Amino acid sequence: MQNDRWILTQLKDLSENRSHSPITKIIELGAGDGYLAQKMKAQHPNAEIIACDLIDKPNHITEQITWKKGDILDFDGFDSQTTVVANLFIHHLTDDQLWQLSEKISPCRALIMAEPHRYWFSKWLGYLTYPFVNSVTRHDMIVSINAGFRFGELAGLLNLDWHWDERVSLGGVHSITKRLS
Ligand SMILES: C[S@@+](CC[C@H](N)C(=O)[O-])C[C@H]1O[C@@H](n2cnc3c(N)ncnc32)[C@H](O)[C@@H]1O
Repeated sequence: MQNDRWILTQLKDLSENRSHSPITKIIELGAGDGYLAQKMKAQHPNAEIIACDLIDKPNHITEQITWKKGDILDFDGFDSQTTVVANLFIHHLTDDQLWQLSEKISPCRALIMAEPHRYWFSKWLGYLTYPFVNSVTRHDMIVSINAGFRFGELAGLLNLDWHWDERVSLGGVHSITKRLS
């Protein structure tokens, strides 16, 4: 939720920035249940929203969203009009795959990411939720944090010589990187 809000704020800021042309195309990597894609469509009704995931299109996703089922590394729709969004997805990729992804998205305008923060405090916060979540969530949460990132790490792992802006919050590592034009 907090990540969705942060991503939507970044998109709004980009679209209101006069030095940035309007957002016309957004590709979401690892869209999962698709709720963020749906919110992005509501925020940018004139933009093409493409949601990619290994899974089938969830039933509640409307026709306004283009759902691409498959490996994101096999997808070829990234172009100079594209803003790329990823929520809790990048930590699923190996270092080699991150390199491949960088190649794919290098023509794009911007990449907005929210990822787990690999830090003891994040785990400690996770442990506090244990009484309220089931065993699968407990397991996945700790695995995700262990696969997450430290501040500044993503810029080294993604081969994008762009402008980087990163911060850490309770929601994780939040990064926005824009192509230098
Ligand atoms: C932790 S979930 C996050 C889902 C969603 N972004 C969210 O925040 O609720 C990661 C998603 O990435 C998808 N995924 C993992 N590897 C992928 C790949 N190589 N290509 C496309 N989707 C992938 C998984 O199927 C899963 O839905």
